[in-house]
Amino acid sequence: MQYSEKVMEHFTNPHNAGVLEDANAVGEVGNPTCGDIMKISMRVNEDTDIIEDVRFQTFGCGAAIAVSSIITDMIKGKTLVEALAIDNDDVVEELGGLPALKIHCSVLAEEGIAAAIKDYCDKHPEKTPPEGLQEKIEHLRSIDLHTGEDE
Ligand code: FES
Repeated sequence: MQYSEKVMEHFTNPHNAGVLEDANAVGEVGNPTCGDIMKISMRVNEDTDIIEDVRFQTFGCGAAIAVSSIITDMIKGKTLVEALAIDNDDVVEELGGLPALKIHCSVLAEEGIAAAIKDYCDKHPEKTPPEGLQEKIEHLRSIDLHTGEDE
């Protein structure tokens, strides 16, 4: 399978790249198999829990850059609950598909968002974390990121 036009578009002209200076939530995840690393920084409105802005830094393959770019577009303006509900299948669909061998790159993006949400919740123990946050993190960790299959 070739890369879709949308993947190429996000790879060559990524949206929301960089570091958010006034971020109040940061998630950093890596794929031990390929060595790719993704860092998500978000500014969350502390009254509404809406993600007002987000940036990513990804040291990795083209697919990892494209998924990082599109997932930051997808979560901007969403509440933490809505952002957590986005999974890697949604990202792949939004990109118009990914080659099977690259599906694991989309899991990395989902993991990065979950890690940033967890960081925000850890910094705000007075808030109730979105339902299913811990379960999702554990599930994503249990996925073999080399193949994208559950272990
Ligand atoms: Fe590592 Fe794509 S090959 S995330």
